[in-house]
Amino acid sequence: MPIKEIKAKDLNAKKFIEQQAAEIARQVGNSYAINALSGGVDSSAVTMLGHIALKNRLKTYFINNGIMRKEEPEQIASIFKKLSVKVEVIDAQNKFFAALKGIEDPEEKREAITQTFYKDVFGKLVRQSKARYLLQGTILTDIDETVAGIKRQHNVFEQLGIDPQKAFGYKILEPLVQLRKDGVRKLAKALGLPESIYKRMPFPGPALAARVIGEVTRERISVVREATAILEDELKSVKAFQYMAILHTDRVTGMRGNKRDFGFQIEIRCWNSIDARQAQPTRLPYPTLEKLATRMTAEVPGVVSVTYHIATKPPSTMEAV
Ligand code: XMP
Repeated sequence: MPIKEIKAKDLNAKKFIEQQAAEIARQVGNSYAINALSGGVDSSAVTMLGHIALKNRLKTYFINNGIMRKEEPEQIASIFKKLSVKVEVIDAQNKFFAALKGIEDPEEKREAITQTFYKDVFGKLVRQSKARYLLQGTILTDIDETVAGIKRQHNVFEQLGIDPQKAFGYKILEPLVQLRKDGVRKLAKALGLPESIYKRMPFPGPALAARVIGEVTRERISVVREATAILEDELKSVKAFQYMAILHTDRVTGMRGNKRDFGFQIEIRCWNSIDARQAQPTRLPYPTLEKLATRMTAEVPGVVSVTYHIATKPPSTMEAV
């Protein structure tokens, strides 16, 4: 049966929350449900809906994969704690870095992250849990992109090679499937989530691994994480679709304290876009760019060069990897 879209302008968020919470409660009955929270707007909205419906019969995990932004796991756990939602943070950093070791190809990196998440870390939690239901933040755009072959399949169990119903009697619940991103943002606000969540800038699933060209190591993630923290701090009042800092593989000659320093180069990208299909670089004021260069070279160890990306998408893509 085709999914009936609810457009953001037609969404009665209060009614939607009541209906979806009742539906989750009805489906789960006396059983348990499980979900993975990333802090993005979709998984945050689903977590709140599940919490309203099930209270402590929903088990929510935040998987710390080691490639999140600075203090992101702590910040997300703290936001949900304030909302009385218990989130268990799972430290899986070693597993992700081990899976990424030696991989340079962008698609192989994505695959390693996906496999580690679904097969190993979250897959194990699901299998060990008493949960009979898995809540997922799939939205209509994800379904469209899956059908069109743009994005990977969102069904976790298919990636596990398992038919959830047959194998375990697990069922997947997708309460956001009638909405698109603007609808989910409206819903997230109505669910009482803070602005830092409902207005959250898009951030890719492969996280900072998408911002490191070449091999993803703890050290290289640490460089791009510091640069990202500076970027997000300096650009927080800029109206842009998305901005990012990228660590290049090539090193360049610089000088520090009258000594030659063969250091890192960071590329900054800041995009104007409506839907990420096309994008133009934001015309950032020159003093802002200068401030970014000054701070990144002073505060991020080893960085001697900072550049600004000025090509449009297409033919560029928004991420460099
Ligand atoms: P591109 O680089 O394709 O990015 O122009 C368009 C939008 O998609 C995001 N993006 C991803 N999101 N997994 C995700 O969940 C990915 O592998 C991925 N790659 C790109 C990107 O951040 C931008 O918003």
